[in-house]
Amino acid sequence: MEGTENERALDVRSLRAESGYITFDEGFGNTGSCSSSITFVDGENGILRYRGYPIDQLAKESNFLESAYLVIYGELPTEGELAVFEDNILGQTNLHVAMGRHFEGFPQNAHPMAILSALLNSLGCYYPEMASNNRQQDLAHFDVASTLLISKVRAIAAMSYRADAGLPFTFAKHGLGYCENFLHMMFSDPYDPYEPKREVIDALDLFLLLHADHEQNCSTSTVRMVASGGANLFASVAAGVGALWGPLHGGANMAVIEMLEKIRATGDDGSRFLEDVKSGNRRLMGFGHRVYKNFDPRAQILGAAADKLLDVTGGGDELLDIARRLADVALKDDYFIERKLYPNVDFYSGIILKAIGIPLAMYTVMFAIGRLPGWIANWKELAENPESRIHRPRQIFTGETARDFVPMERRA
Ligand code: CMC
Repeated sequence: MEGTENERALDVRSLRAESGYITFDEGFGNTGSCSSSITFVDGENGILRYRGYPIDQLAKESNFLESAYLVIYGELPTEGELAVFEDNILGQTNLHVAMGRHFEGFPQNAHPMAILSALLNSLGCYYPEMASNNRQQDLAHFDVASTLLISKVRAIAAMSYRADAGLPFTFAKHGLGYCENFLHMMFSDPYDPYEPKREVIDALDLFLLLHADHEQNCSTSTVRMVASGGANLFASVAAGVGALWGPLHGGANMAVIEMLEKIRATGDDGSRFLEDVKSGNRRLMGFGHRVYKNFDPRAQILGAAADKLLDVTGGGDELLDIARRLADVALKDDYFIERKLYPNVDFYSGIILKAIGIPLAMYTVMFAIGRLPGWIANWKELAENPESRIHRPRQIFTGETARDFVPMERRA
């Protein structure tokens, strides 16, 4: 098989039937799980394109909602199409009142990623006609269901933060843009409206845009896996949140800040930490990528954006300095050069989120808000493909061969 970017693959779909063999590829480093026309990544050359458009052009010329439309529908929207899409998103921000009560059921300090996954899934209970698990019906509701998710994810995220902090909920305000309204729901109090600087809003928009899709990563593959069984959009993206949570994937943005703060607290200039990494005792979080083996274009854009934002917000420079020092040393060190380890998107994203004022526990939630369009686009692509089959990998069994049941009295 050959893709439009000359990516080559061996089609092994009839291998087992014809030879009795399966392929073995734990971690799927050599396995194409689907064909897709959404996002192209060339890891050797640091290329990322959404629907053919280079990420640096989108970062400069577009914004999160327009890029979300592009990722989901395949083309840049016309003025009219964008207006409808934005109206759908900006007009249905608040949650059903009964959903507010879910937050009372979680214990204090409940992790916002657990709450996010649960409440995205429970949205399907409030809109059961859109979450029927009947693919044709769910596809017929797709335009509304997808904008509803992109919109309401902000209220879920903001309410989980405020419930944990013991603050009253702040409802969305009409007339505000996507990021502005999210910041309003997070940080405004009834007696003290929060008015973010333009640079803060722009940095958040850029952060979300850069996370919008990234082909068959762990969480997106999870969304496709769940969708392949016929599950509705809400259930599928809720599963994506679970997959994103881990520190090797979306949880890395939190882990980077924790790492930088630990380095600062111990008075290390970073060299002791890097020695520890090289002896295999820990990982340099925010470094390395399964696909990028040269540079991650998202990290380059965010690194520059972090500098700009910190000029405006002040504070946090010390962490950025440590990060830059770590990167400078690591990029010249044989350990990292030989393994082709470079800063990934998470290396600088935590610094941006910190400067915006997002609490640490919410960092991976922010990644999820950004990645939602990609999950949605992948659900749609799979659901619309008449040839898609349930994802059901095989395994090489390494357990006991057949043996007879041992009654309790004869067990050692
Ligand atoms: N620090 C130190 N060594 C590393 C790192 C790292 N961050 N990443 C990989 N290595 C080493 C690893 O120990 C192995 O060395 P050796 O060959 O001597 O055993 C070699 O590099 C290959 O590593 P791997 O674990 O086989 O690579 P992978 O493709 O399975 O893992 C990764 C990719 C991103 C999980 C990994 O690089 C990592 O753990 N990075 C830190 C976590 C992180 O920043 N994750 C965010 C990824 S980007 C955002 C996203 O898409 O979620």
